[in-house]
Amino acid sequence: MTPSDTAASFVLKPATQCALVDALVEHGWYVGHGAIDLGLCEALNRELLHRAAYNGLDEAGIGRGQQHLLRKDIRGDAIHWLDRESAAQRHYLDAMSELQQALNHALFLGLFEYEAHFAHYPPGAFYQRHVDSFRGRANRVISTVGYLTPNWPSDGGGEMVIYHPDDPSQEVARVVPEAGTFACFLSETIPHEVLPTHQPRTSIAGWFRRNASLGGVLDPAR
Ligand code: OGA
Ligand code: MN
Repeated sequence: MTPSDTAASFVLKPATQCALVDALVEHGWYVGHGAIDLGLCEALNRELLHRAAYNGLDEAGIGRGQQHLLRKDIRGDAIHWLDRESAAQRHYLDAMSELQQALNHALFLGLFEYEAHFAHYPPGAFYQRHVDSFRGRANRVISTVGYLTPNWPSDGGGEMVIYHPDDPSQEVARVVPEAGTFACFLSETIPHEVLPTHQPRTSIAGWFRRNASLGGVLDPAR
């Protein structure tokens, strides 16, 4: 079976959804190893590496809308927003819509949208500790990261460190960015960072959002 034949429910293994909901409720974060179909990871990784090789990525910034800033001292990845242009992207995004439905059904979160980008961290790049959403403009509710690089070596660096929501000095998990691993956490409360990588590191970072448009001012999507 090629990735393009894979039904959305097999992209993210069914058992993953239940474990994920339980872990989000209990800890605010979830990490599943081998959670994403490896054939799909391979297709997505190929697409991202092709973009990285042929100038098809944009330098990532921090902040949204008019506050968008390029800060290599804070984050060093280059990105491309998913736009459903390939079968692999469509399969990944379809699996995320299924997950969105499961999350809304189990937790009444009212998630209405998902946005995601490919991320390529060249050797030496990192992303300093941060949270993905600020209280008051809490339109990003749940963050997801799907990892795409196969055979990540033990000395490859690039782990995502998850910190305790009430004590940001306390490390609670270290996620090796190995293809197939899927991480998920509450966007407002879970501090996390990407340690400097020693080799090219590929992933898809995404966010389930609630509609935060207020007073007729449209909240910028990115
Ligand atoms: C992000 C992020 C983590 C990762 O893009 O906001 O925290 O492991 N990514 O790539
Ligand atoms: Mn983040």
